[in-house]
Amino acid sequence: MRKLTYFIACSIDGFIGDPSGDAQFFVPLVDEEFFENFLKAEYPETVPTHGRRATGIDDLENKKFDTIIQGRSSYDLALAVDVTSPYAHMRQYVASRTLEKSPDPNVEIVSEGVVGKIRELKQEDSAFGIYLCGGSKIAGELIDEVDELVIKTYPLVLGSGMPMFGSAFALTEFTLDTVRTFKNGVLVRTYQRKP
Ligand SMILES: NC(=O)c1ccc[n+]([C@@H]2O[C@H](COP(=O)([O-])OP(=O)(O)OC[C@H]3O[C@@H](n4cnc5c(N)ncnc54)[C@H](OP(=O)(O)O)[C@@H]3O)[C@@H](O)[C@H]2O)c1
Repeated sequence: MRKLTYFIACSIDGFIGDPSGDAQFFVPLVDEEFFENFLKAEYPETVPTHGRRATGIDDLENKKFDTIIQGRSSYDLALAVDVTSPYAHMRQYVASRTLEKSPDPNVEIVSEGVVGKIRELKQEDSAFGIYLCGGSKIAGELIDEVDELVIKTYPLVLGSGMPMFGSAFALTEFTLDTVRTFKNGVLVRTYQRKP
């Protein structure tokens, strides 16, 4: 069965954005080493299509994921800059109960049964995993389905902000897999869900 991986940027104090969710302040901390040796080398598909074009990596093949799911508020960020297919190199799902029609033929709206949809996708025969992009609300809804965490911790303290999972208090155990550090102060931890 393939995995659902929550691949997410967060602060030292565990927030994925400011209280409104804005996460733009992480972007200037992506330096050449982190981009080349981590994002481009290992997770090029996590860079949105417009970012791939801008950085000249649009032709790179997917390495880890072939499918992405994000919440409607996260998808809104792309729509706000007139991008309707932000991850054109993957099969795209957007969870939303309010978007009646998809703005793009390459984006499928999941309006109900999002957990069932993820379970169905996990059953597919594929060497690639499913990228849970965020944000907090959809990650909170899908926490019981998350098999793997790839947490990029940026060297910033926010004090308050949007939590990684917008869910009620509950303990979910994960096993630490790998820890990597980069010169820009970013720490990437990979965890596997405890069976
Ligand atoms: N740090 C990072 O790496 C990172 C990554 C991604 C996003 N973010 C940030 O996260 C912020 C957005 O997060 P968010 O928590 O506000 O929103 P979100 O999770 O992106 O989207 C929430 C929306 O998803 C839909 N949804 C959630 N659960 C659903 C379900 N069970 N069934 C159907 N639809 C469902 C609903 O859309 P409707 O209201 O349309 O029904 C809900 O309002 C953004 O500002 C972005 O910057 C950060």
